Amino acid sequence: MSEATIRPRVGILISGRGSNMVSLVEAARAPGYPAEIALVLSNVPGAPGLERARDFGIATATVDHRAFNKDREAFERAMDDVLRVNQIDLVVLAGFMRIMTPWFVRRWEGRMINIHPSLLPLFKGTHTHRQALEAGVAEHGCSVHFVVPELDAGPVIAQAKVPVLAGDDEDTLASRVLVEEHRLYPIALAEVAAGRAALVDGAVVRR
Ligand code: GRF
Repeated sequence: MSEATIRPRVGILISGRGSNMVSLVEAARAPGYPAEIALVLSNVPGAPGLERARDFGIATATVDHRAFNKDREAFERAMDDVLRVNQIDLVVLAGFMRIMTPWFVRRWEGRMINIHPSLLPLFKGTHTHRQALEAGVAEHGCSVHFVVPELDAGPVIAQAKVPVLAGDDEDTLASRVLVEEHRLYPIALAEVAAGRAALVDGAVVRR
Protein backbone atom coordinates (compact mmCIF):
# COMPACT_ATOMS: atom_id res chain seq x y z
CA MET A 1 0.00 0.00 0.00
CA SER A 2 3.02 2.28 0.19
CA GLU A 3 3.39 2.85 -3.53
CA ALA A 4 0.78 4.94 -5.27
CA THR A 5 0.41 2.32 -7.99
CA ILE A 6 -0.51 -0.46 -5.57
CA ARG A 7 -4.21 -0.30 -4.84
CA PRO A 8 -5.50 -1.59 -1.50
CA ARG A 9 -7.50 -4.79 -1.78
CA VAL A 10 -11.04 -4.37 -0.49
CA GLY A 11 -13.26 -7.04 1.01
CA ILE A 12 -16.95 -6.12 0.99
CA LEU A 13 -19.12 -7.77 3.65
CA ILE A 14 -22.80 -8.20 2.81
CA SER A 15 -25.84 -10.02 4.15
CA GLY A 16 -28.43 -9.32 1.46
CA ARG A 17 -29.12 -7.84 -1.95
CA GLY A 18 -25.83 -5.98 -2.22
CA SER A 19 -26.85 -2.85 -4.11
CA ASN A 20 -24.15 -0.80 -2.39
CA MET A 21 -21.64 -3.53 -3.20
CA VAL A 22 -22.61 -3.23 -6.88
CA SER A 23 -22.13 0.55 -6.81
CA LEU A 24 -18.65 0.07 -5.33
CA VAL A 25 -17.70 -2.61 -7.85
CA GLU A 26 -18.85 -0.42 -10.73
CA ALA A 27 -16.97 2.61 -9.41
CA ALA A 28 -13.80 0.59 -8.85
CA ARG A 29 -13.73 -0.43 -12.52
CA ALA A 30 -12.93 3.14 -13.53
CA PRO A 31 -9.30 3.74 -14.42
CA GLY A 32 -7.56 5.49 -11.57
CA TYR A 33 -9.96 4.36 -8.85
CA PRO A 34 -7.65 3.90 -5.84
CA ALA A 35 -8.97 0.53 -4.61
CA GLU A 36 -9.54 -2.93 -5.99
CA ILE A 37 -12.61 -4.93 -4.96
CA ALA A 38 -11.00 -8.30 -4.34
CA LEU A 39 -13.62 -10.22 -2.36
CA VAL A 40 -17.29 -10.21 -1.43
CA LEU A 41 -17.96 -12.11 1.78
CA SER A 42 -21.38 -12.92 3.22
CA ASN A 43 -22.60 -14.43 6.46
CA VAL A 44 -25.77 -15.56 4.66
CA PRO A 45 -25.47 -18.52 2.29
CA GLY A 46 -27.28 -17.66 -0.93
CA ALA A 47 -27.44 -13.92 -0.26
CA PRO A 48 -28.52 -12.38 -3.60
CA GLY A 49 -25.50 -10.08 -3.61
CA LEU A 50 -23.13 -13.05 -3.86
CA GLU A 51 -24.43 -13.98 -7.28
CA ARG A 52 -24.27 -10.37 -8.40
CA ALA A 53 -20.62 -10.27 -7.33
CA ARG A 54 -19.84 -13.47 -9.21
CA ASP A 55 -21.48 -11.97 -12.30
CA PHE A 56 -18.81 -9.26 -12.09
CA GLY A 57 -16.10 -11.92 -11.82
CA ILE A 58 -15.34 -11.12 -8.18
CA ALA A 59 -14.28 -13.83 -5.74
CA THR A 60 -16.94 -14.63 -3.15
CA ALA A 61 -16.97 -16.47 0.15
CA THR A 62 -19.54 -17.37 2.77
CA VAL A 63 -18.99 -17.73 6.51
CA ASP A 64 -22.35 -18.76 7.96
CA HIS A 65 -22.64 -17.34 11.48
CA ARG A 66 -25.15 -20.06 12.37
CA ALA A 67 -22.39 -22.67 12.15
CA PHE A 68 -20.63 -21.19 15.19
CA ASN A 69 -23.19 -21.86 17.93
CA LYS A 70 -23.48 -18.20 18.93
CA ASP A 71 -19.70 -17.97 19.49
CA ARG A 72 -19.29 -14.56 17.84
CA GLU A 73 -15.55 -14.47 18.16
CA ALA A 74 -15.16 -17.89 16.53
CA PHE A 75 -17.35 -16.66 13.67
CA GLU A 76 -15.25 -13.53 13.34
CA ARG A 77 -11.99 -15.48 13.48
CA ALA A 78 -13.27 -17.55 10.57
CA MET A 79 -14.11 -14.36 8.65
CA ASP A 80 -10.75 -12.89 9.55
CA ASP A 81 -9.01 -15.99 8.19
CA VAL A 82 -10.85 -15.60 4.87
CA LEU A 83 -9.94 -11.91 4.72
CA ARG A 84 -6.28 -12.63 5.41
CA VAL A 85 -6.06 -15.52 2.94
CA ASN A 86 -7.43 -13.10 0.34
CA GLN A 87 -4.87 -10.45 1.40
CA ILE A 88 -7.55 -7.89 2.17
CA ASP A 89 -6.37 -4.44 3.25
CA LEU A 90 -9.71 -2.69 3.79
CA VAL A 91 -13.06 -4.05 4.99
CA VAL A 92 -16.20 -2.37 3.69
CA LEU A 93 -19.50 -3.20 5.38
CA ALA A 94 -22.41 -2.90 2.96
CA GLY A 95 -25.64 -4.11 4.50
CA PHE A 96 -23.78 -6.55 6.76
CA MET A 97 -26.27 -7.43 9.47
CA ARG A 98 -24.03 -8.72 12.26
CA ILE A 99 -22.67 -6.58 15.07
CA MET A 100 -18.90 -6.95 15.35
CA THR A 101 -17.17 -7.70 18.66
CA PRO A 102 -14.54 -5.29 19.97
CA TRP A 103 -11.94 -7.94 19.05
CA PHE A 104 -12.76 -7.80 15.35
CA VAL A 105 -13.22 -4.03 15.35
CA ARG A 106 -9.81 -3.46 16.95
CA ARG A 107 -8.20 -5.86 14.53
CA TRP A 108 -9.47 -3.76 11.61
CA GLU A 109 -9.35 -0.40 13.34
CA GLY A 110 -8.93 2.40 10.81
CA ARG A 111 -9.29 -0.14 8.01
CA MET A 112 -13.03 -0.89 8.26
CA ILE A 113 -15.85 1.40 7.15
CA ASN A 114 -19.65 1.16 7.12
CA ILE A 115 -22.56 2.94 5.50
CA HIS A 116 -25.51 3.80 7.70
CA PRO A 117 -28.82 5.11 6.33
CA SER A 118 -29.15 8.24 8.46
CA LEU A 119 -27.36 11.48 9.17
CA LEU A 120 -25.35 10.24 12.14
CA PRO A 121 -25.38 10.84 15.06
CA LEU A 122 -29.14 10.88 14.43
CA PHE A 123 -31.07 7.60 14.19
CA LYS A 124 -28.64 4.86 15.07
CA GLY A 125 -29.62 1.20 14.87
CA THR A 126 -32.38 -0.18 12.66
CA HIS A 127 -35.51 1.29 11.02
CA THR A 128 -33.74 4.58 10.46
CA HIS A 129 -36.27 5.83 7.89
CA ARG A 130 -39.14 5.16 10.29
CA GLN A 131 -37.17 6.95 13.03
CA ALA A 132 -36.66 9.96 10.74
CA LEU A 133 -40.36 10.13 9.81
CA GLU A 134 -41.44 9.83 13.44
CA ALA A 135 -39.01 12.58 14.45
CA GLY A 136 -40.43 14.87 11.77
CA VAL A 137 -37.08 15.98 10.41
CA ALA A 138 -36.95 17.98 7.17
CA GLU A 139 -33.73 16.34 6.03
CA HIS A 140 -32.48 12.78 6.18
CA GLY A 141 -29.62 10.96 4.47
CA CYS A 142 -26.73 8.57 4.89
CA SER A 143 -23.30 8.49 6.50
CA VAL A 144 -20.08 6.60 5.84
CA HIS A 145 -18.02 6.14 8.99
CA PHE A 146 -15.07 4.27 10.40
CA VAL A 147 -16.24 1.35 12.51
CA VAL A 148 -15.57 1.57 16.25
CA PRO A 149 -16.73 -0.82 18.98
CA GLU A 150 -19.83 1.25 19.80
CA LEU A 151 -22.59 0.66 17.24
CA ASP A 152 -23.02 3.40 14.60
CA ALA A 153 -20.81 5.73 16.62
CA GLY A 154 -17.66 5.84 14.49
CA PRO A 155 -16.18 9.07 13.16
CA VAL A 156 -17.97 10.19 9.99
CA ILE A 157 -16.03 10.28 6.73
CA ALA A 158 -18.79 11.60 4.47
CA GLN A 159 -22.52 12.29 4.48
CA ALA A 160 -25.21 12.97 1.89
CA LYS A 161 -28.58 14.62 2.55
CA VAL A 162 -32.01 14.20 1.01
CA PRO A 163 -35.19 16.15 1.71
CA VAL A 164 -38.07 14.50 3.54
CA LEU A 165 -41.13 15.23 1.41
CA ALA A 166 -44.80 15.49 2.33
CA GLY A 167 -46.41 12.10 1.87
CA ASP A 168 -43.17 10.15 2.28
CA ASP A 169 -43.39 6.70 3.77
CA GLU A 170 -40.51 4.45 4.79
CA ASP A 171 -40.18 3.02 1.28
CA THR A 172 -40.12 6.30 -0.63
CA LEU A 173 -37.67 7.78 1.83
CA ALA A 174 -35.46 4.66 1.77
CA SER A 175 -35.33 4.78 -2.05
CA ARG A 176 -34.32 8.44 -2.06
CA VAL A 177 -31.59 7.76 0.50
CA LEU A 178 -30.38 4.66 -1.36
CA VAL A 179 -29.66 6.71 -4.49
CA GLU A 180 -27.36 8.86 -2.36
CA GLU A 181 -25.78 5.82 -0.69
CA HIS A 182 -24.77 4.50 -4.10
CA ARG A 183 -23.19 7.85 -4.98
CA LEU A 184 -21.54 8.49 -1.61
CA TYR A 185 -19.98 5.14 -0.74
CA PRO A 186 -17.58 4.96 -3.71
CA ILE A 187 -16.43 8.51 -3.00
CA ALA A 188 -15.82 7.78 0.69
CA LEU A 189 -14.02 4.51 -0.02
CA ALA A 190 -11.75 6.31 -2.48
CA GLU A 191 -10.89 8.86 0.22
CA VAL A 192 -9.86 6.13 2.64
CA ALA A 193 -8.12 3.95 0.06
CA ALA A 194 -6.06 6.87 -1.20
CA GLY A 195 -5.14 7.86 2.34
CA ARG A 196 -6.95 11.20 2.11
CA ALA A 197 -9.15 10.30 5.09
CA ALA A 198 -7.71 8.35 8.00
CA LEU A 199 -8.71 7.44 11.54
CA VAL A 200 -6.24 9.02 13.96
CA ASP A 201 -6.83 9.05 17.74
CA GLY A 202 -10.55 8.43 17.25
CA ALA A 203 -11.14 11.20 14.71
CA VAL A 204 -11.07 11.51 10.94
CA VAL A 205 -7.96 13.29 9.71
CA ARG A 206 -8.01 14.60 6.13
CA ARG A 207 -4.82 14.98 4.14
C1 GRF B 1 -28.39 0.02 3.02
O1 GRF B 1 -29.48 0.88 3.21
C2 GRF B 1 -27.30 0.33 4.00
O2 GRF B 1 -27.22 1.69 4.32
C3 GRF B 1 -27.73 -0.44 5.20
O3 GRF B 1 -28.26 -1.65 4.70
C4 GRF B 1 -28.74 -1.41 3.37
C5 GRF B 1 -28.05 -2.40 2.49
O4 GRF B 1 -28.56 -2.40 1.18
N1 GRF B 1 -26.62 -0.62 6.09
P1 GRF B 1 -27.79 -3.16 0.03
O5 GRF B 1 -27.63 -4.61 0.46
O6 GRF B 1 -26.48 -2.48 -0.17
O7 GRF B 1 -28.69 -3.05 -1.17
